[in-house]
Amino acid sequence: PETGCLSIIVLGASGDLAKKKTFPALYNLYRQGFLQSNEVHIFGYARTKISDDELRNRIRGYLSHGKDSEDVSNFLQLIKYVSGSYDGEEGFRLLDTKIYEQEVSKNTQEGSSRRLFYLALPPSVYPSVSKMIRSFCMNRSDLGGWTRIVVEKPFGKDLDSAEALSSQLGELFEEKQIYRIDHYLGKELVQNLLVLRFANRFFLPLWNRDHIDNIQIVFREDFGTDGRGGYFDEYGIIRDIIQNHLLQVLCLVAMEKPISLKPEHIRDEKVKVLQSVESIADEEVVLGQYDGYKDDSTVSDHSNTPTFATVVLRIHNERWEGVPFILKAGKALNSRKAEIRVQFKEVPGDIFRCKKQGRNEFVIRLQPSEAMYMKLTVKQPGLEMSTIQSELDLSYGQRYQGVAIPEAYERLILDTIRGDQQHFVRRDELKAAWEIFTPLLHKIDRGELKPLPYKPGSRGPAEADELLAKAGYMQTHGYIWIPPTL
Ligand code: BG6
Repeated sequence: PETGCLSIIVLGASGDLAKKKTFPALYNLYRQGFLQSNEVHIFGYARTKISDDELRNRIRGYLSHGKDSEDVSNFLQLIKYVSGSYDGEEGFRLLDTKIYEQEVSKNTQEGSSRRLFYLALPPSVYPSVSKMIRSFCMNRSDLGGWTRIVVEKPFGKDLDSAEALSSQLGELFEEKQIYRIDHYLGKELVQNLLVLRFANRFFLPLWNRDHIDNIQIVFREDFGTDGRGGYFDEYGIIRDIIQNHLLQVLCLVAMEKPISLKPEHIRDEKVKVLQSVESIADEEVVLGQYDGYKDDSTVSDHSNTPTFATVVLRIHNERWEGVPFILKAGKALNSRKAEIRVQFKEVPGDIFRCKKQGRNEFVIRLQPSEAMYMKLTVKQPGLEMSTIQSELDLSYGQRYQGVAIPEAYERLILDTIRGDQQHFVRRDELKAAWEIFTPLLHKIDRGELKPLPYKPGSRGPAEADELLAKAGYMQTHGYIWIPPTL
């Protein structure tokens, strides 16, 4: 591993993302020994004029594992605050001076200057902030090391704005310095997809159009846009969840086997599968908006923004022709979970008449209660020869007792420090993702497609279930998987 001073600069330090995700993830890395206090320095940067201690106090409550512990205090001591604007030289020159002071004082060992800028900011300021970083805050070449920047979605609002943003960033930084974070790529079961698919003989022959009938990738939340109405109304569920999180999952489910595990090999395959997605047909889209969404004072009374969407994607290649990939996401639904459902075709010439019970289905539950289970038909235990649906179940809580599953952000930030871009979105991948959804998004923005109302706490509009059935999904009857209790 590299040594020397590592400065982590969180821009937008007093914002929601920084408090809820970035600092807690850094704390967890620190606690586990990944950030050594003799070489790490953390800076918070934002416009508000507050002291180091005020920033520390704002963060403290979000750090888990014993809020008053020694670990927490030691971690907080690593954080310094610098205030300044996002487009003026002065703040960034000051920031650079502070970072440099630390680098020089720390570099009693053979030193380098590693600078990680985490932009926990609205994308509207990415161009100015990255320009300032490029002009005033790059690592000092005489010390060696690197400068990297981490950016969060939304990366633009459609193909053109995303490309404009990409070129602006691309003029200032090389692709290998840019880490576009999609935190779904940091989830344990998402990272497991590659292993599952390519290290198991079970799946190799079955994972294609000959055996799979349809695939669903589903995200549900049982709360609305609470307090984020202003942001959300500008973006909607497709830009917030589907175009990034669910599409990234789709890539890993559908892509071909990469040449190797090298990040570029994996990302090459993801791009290919995205480029094979056909244009979305209007009749394969159902949009919804929950009743009460517009009561939020930050949401326009005439908002046409969907808080729910089911979209069928079709991949035009040899493996997937004819297999619908149904992406579904919604806020204010009846449950909170994210899962992938791979539904197999029926057994041809079935002598047991299993059809009424349901098909084989392989479910990967990303959260909560990480699990994989396979619905299969077995003989009903007992004297009669009848069949019943059952499951092979790998529930992580049970199988890996006492193993803490890392938070997505924790793992991804560690990757940025180590320089591993495998779980980050490459520029061409982002472009291909926007190409898929931009025509649909523009139709919604122009009001040509309208969301259907649905009741908060429901399954979403009934039309979405109809679309699901039309796409070929068959609900299992008389069977429900119950996560095991410990
Ligand atoms: C974010 C979205 O990217 O992901 C939020 O902006 C959403 O709207 C969140 O709530 C969900 O993440 P997770 O990890 O809780 O599933």
